[in-house]
Amino acid sequence: MNVNEKVAIVTGAGGGMGKVVVEQFLEQGAKVAGIDIQTAGLVELESRYPEQLLVIQGNLADEESVESAIKKTAETFGQIDVLANVAGIAQAATDIEKVSLKDWERIMSINSTAVFLTSRAVVPYMKQQKNGSIINIASVSVDRPRPGLNAYVASKGATISLTKALAIELAPYNIRVNAINPGPADTKMLGEFTTAGGNEGEAKENIFRKSVPLGELITPEAIANCVLYLSSDLAKMMTGSVVNVDGGRGI
Ligand SMILES: NC(=O)c1ccc[n+]([C@@H]2O[C@H](COP(=O)([O-])OP(=O)(O)OC[C@H]3O[C@@H](n4cnc5c(N)ncnc54)[C@H](O)[C@@H]3O)[C@@H](O)[C@H]2O)c1
Repeated sequence: MNVNEKVAIVTGAGGGMGKVVVEQFLEQGAKVAGIDIQTAGLVELESRYPEQLLVIQGNLADEESVESAIKKTAETFGQIDVLANVAGIAQAATDIEKVSLKDWERIMSINSTAVFLTSRAVVPYMKQQKNGSIINIASVSVDRPRPGLNAYVASKGATISLTKALAIELAPYNIRVNAINPGPADTKMLGEFTTAGGNEGEAKENIFRKSVPLGELITPEAIANCVLYLSSDLAKMMTGSVVNVDGGRGI
């Protein structure tokens, strides 16, 4: 993929998909700043790649925390070529009349406002380099919503709109902005979409896996493959795209 000379920031780096994205970048020789509120899962990778991986504990819902994480990355590695916004939170399926404003705002702040904050912080570096790739993880649920995921679907829809808005705004600077829509993926998050009191294992099999035409849950590796491709120069004519990695769920 030729990403070995790139510096990538990965948010949600300690999570199911984020960690595999980080690992794939490291295996290819890239330098990575992995940001997460919970960094315990990154300890092993940090000891395997001490020169290449910078782990930053930060809260993406907090403006100052984001600014300082991006600054630290630039100071450590001298450039920022890729921003992969992988962090996100789920919503337990809830009827709209029972969704509190606090929950709505929490979901929006991490799934969409954080994408604004990280993008705003990296763009000055990318503009100076006249080169950059931003990849936002949205969700196929924007096209195929499930009942009760109202705030989650709205938050990911906003991220897709922001992706397109930034793609046109930043094209003159050779900064590409794309989104990936994962289908139901085999991570901790999947069970969190289950209605409160519901059986997570049963929902995973009977609702989620069976909804994928190719018959399997999406792996974090499948998402990471696409992130690396969009980061690389192989995708140099792709911007403003929304790529489904969903086993056909979006059809
Ligand atoms: N798992 C699925 O079925 C699925 C489907 C479609 C889209 N997605 C999206 O894929 C992305 C990755 O999800 P995942 O399945 O790896 O989930 P995950 O829960 O395993 O990982 C999410 C990570 O984001 C981090 N995070 C949450 N809030 C944060 C904050 N305020 N500051 C810093 N870090 C924070 C968490 O600590 C966690 O490590 C998310 O954006 C999710 O919405 C997931």
